Amino acid sequence: MIAVPTRTESTSAPPDTASQAKDAVTARDVYKRFGTVHALRGLSLSVPAGATYGLLGPNGAGKTTLIRAMVGLIRPDAGAVQVLGVPMPDRAILSQVGYMPQAPALYEDLSVRQNVAFFAAMAGVYAAAAVDAAVALVDLSERAHSPVRTLSGGMRQRTSLACATVHRPRLLILDEPTVGIDPQLRVQFWEHFRRLNAQGVTIVVSSHVMDEAERCDRLGFIQAGRLLAEGDAAELRARAGTDTLEEAFLHFAEV
Ligand SMILES: Nc1ncnc2c1ncn2[C@@H]1O[C@H](COP(=O)(O)OP(=O)(O)OP(=O)(O)O)[C@@H](O)[C@H]1O
Ligand SMILES: [Mg+2]
Repeated sequence: MIAVPTRTESTSAPPDTASQAKDAVTARDVYKRFGTVHALRGLSLSVPAGATYGLLGPNGAGKTTLIRAMVGLIRPDAGAVQVLGVPMPDRAILSQVGYMPQAPALYEDLSVRQNVAFFAAMAGVYAAAAVDAAVALVDLSERAHSPVRTLSGGMRQRTSLACATVHRPRLLILDEPTVGIDPQLRVQFWEHFRRLNAQGVTIVVSSHVMDEAERCDRLGFIQAGRLLAEGDAAELRARAGTDTLEEAFLHFAEV
């Protein structure tokens, strides 16, 4: 069972002016091209502070590219991304951001605990208790000293989540965090996300899975590098005049 400590145990920075921003993330007219591929074509969206925001779209829609722009791993060709009130890229704000990439980026020869400690140190957190707590939260205490190369896929995902949350970020960005994990762990991940969210953490999560989308406060439908529609699940279904989010997506894709 994944548990979450209370916010009072947080090691993250005290609120600053950036925390006053109404939107945790804004993307404005973002363009990004890779050679002849136009990954983002003038995409704009905003993630309200405190929300769980779902980025939904098919393979190649541009979700990962947008997320990479949010964490400053790529620089848009045009347009701008702001995170917690700060124009990206900006290294300093990353201490308040947690990022779980689509493919776990872990050190295979290091143990679970060593990986989490490394990511904690990168964010300026050196407390052993914080590392142990993050490992415990994803239910990996018994495997804390196992090298990552000996873990199952789901355990790697858990380790990656621990790395993304160990420094108690105010904004958590998760790129398809539940792909390839079993239904029980998927439910546990979502319970974990919702509890973090209840503590005030803003969450951006990309997914193809529509039942996960139902759990988000707000959704952005993305296709071919553009935002097709934005709203909560009920609102998007109502606007499309459909019973399901899949049908709503197809409706907006055709308009
Ligand atoms: N580094 C790169 N070099 C070349 N092309 C890239 C690069 N990164 C992304 N692309 C291209 O940009 C487009 C958008 O890719 P992106 O990874 O953002 O999609 P996605 O929505 O995350 O898809 P998926 O659901 O499969 O993860 C694709 O056509 C992809 O091939
Ligand atoms: Mg992707």
